[in-house]
Amino acid sequence: MQLRLVLALVCLPGVLGAQRVSFNKQIAPIIYQNCSSCHRPGEAAPFSLLSYQDVAKKAKLIAAVTASRQMPPWKAVPASFPYRDERRLTDSEIALLQEWVKAGMPEGSPADKTAPPEFKSGWRLGEPDLVVEMPAAYHIPADGADIYRNIAIPLGLTEDKWVTAIDMRLTARAVVHHVLYFADPVGKVHERQQEGTEPGFAGMRAGGASVPLGGWALGAQPHFFPEGLAMSVTKGSDLVIQYHFHPDGKAEAEKSLIGLYFAKEAPKRTLTAIQLPPVYSLFSGLDIPAGEKDFVIRDSYTLPAAVDAVGISAHAHYIGKVMQMTATLPSGETKTLLHITDWDFAWQDRYFFQDFVSLPKGTKLEAEIHWDNSAGNPRNPSSPPIPVAWGEQSKDEMGSLTLIAVPHEEADLNTVRRDYRKHTTDRARERIMKDPSMAAKVQALLAQ
Ligand code: HEC
Repeated sequence: MQLRLVLALVCLPGVLGAQRVSFNKQIAPIIYQNCSSCHRPGEAAPFSLLSYQDVAKKAKLIAAVTASRQMPPWKAVPASFPYRDERRLTDSEIALLQEWVKAGMPEGSPADKTAPPEFKSGWRLGEPDLVVEMPAAYHIPADGADIYRNIAIPLGLTEDKWVTAIDMRLTARAVVHHVLYFADPVGKVHERQQEGTEPGFAGMRAGGASVPLGGWALGAQPHFFPEGLAMSVTKGSDLVIQYHFHPDGKAEAEKSLIGLYFAKEAPKRTLTAIQLPPVYSLFSGLDIPAGEKDFVIRDSYTLPAAVDAVGISAHAHYIGKVMQMTATLPSGETKTLLHITDWDFAWQDRYFFQDFVSLPKGTKLEAEIHWDNSAGNPRNPSSPPIPVAWGEQSKDEMGSLTLIAVPHEEADLNTVRRDYRKHTTDRARERIMKDPSMAAKVQALLAQ
């Protein structure tokens, strides 16, 4: 009896498992919730995952890329605080996918069938309050260097607005690496003379008195700011979009639609950004020898007032590898805000915390970025490796982590902003002392 019981227990999970896992019951909800938003017509992914047939056809590959966590793309490893809209399967979801493939991909009972999600207008956050379009298409050649292009669009606002989210619909997804949005409150950037035959003008500076409004990068999902937070866009403003195009072997034309979402009322607290190291490591000695396997830059900054951290993002180009920001609280406790162990240029996200993270005055923020410029890095664009320095081309490097926060007390906003600006100028000064040629470089950059 003993033996039989043991045998029965051993066999039970297998037998039950084979009957239990079906597409209709367990697999469809996992795929529809975590995959279909990208895997559908007109989106970035190469095939749709919207039906049993779609999923069954790719089942083995799906089992492999979910087990390795290559899909869904989400580069942040679990840190001290959960993020919103985490695109990360649980271990049991991954196990279910494995089990389903092993069981021969049963479709299951029609009674359990779930309808695939509907994505109506193509705008992932719903219909925007205002949609504007690029005045003319920008033509990206089949090959050549990366292109940075600023294109301004008058928004036609007759009153001041607060922007809670921006999304865009692209016509040439394959070559748009990322975009940054700015508001030009003077509303004159669109009058600036177009350079050459294409719309807009070149460079990394949006022109005018532009204020940053965030951005979009390949793979990133648009978000609403939480808790009524929003960015100010005054009446008469131009929206300036700075595109980073990366030619991809085929001539393309980009004519984006941009959707803006407005808050119903002015936010009570103002967002501010703390980027470490400042200016994507411009002043941090980013000079990576060819073949260097682990080049590290660190920066730290102590908060002059209490803030609530809202979100965090990271940026580097191809050979960035590991990035981390920690917060050591006055109590001595250290928390991890973001940790990416396998940076991928293609998947840049802004990570919003599920709840605001309270960081008291005196909290020490520490940022650390590692680059791998060896031949062993499959993402190295240069073979053999070449020396890499700070620069705007994607074969150059940049790197930093940016914390998006609101001061605990609105009255501290200027303290935080002034103190962080001082941190930036301190870093610049230190660098110019070490390397006087930096002074000219920085000036040239600012003059662009
Ligand atoms: C944020 C968008 C996004 C989400 C969400 C997403 N994918 Fe993908 N997927 C892509 C893109 C884009 C590619 C093309 C390859 C690349 O760029 O990595 C891709 C490629 C793939 C591939 C082919 C990989 C290869 O090596 O050929 C598979 C399989 C796949 N995805 C499965 C999934 C599954 C399963 C899910 C959900 C659990 C998922 N994806 C969620 C965007 C997404």
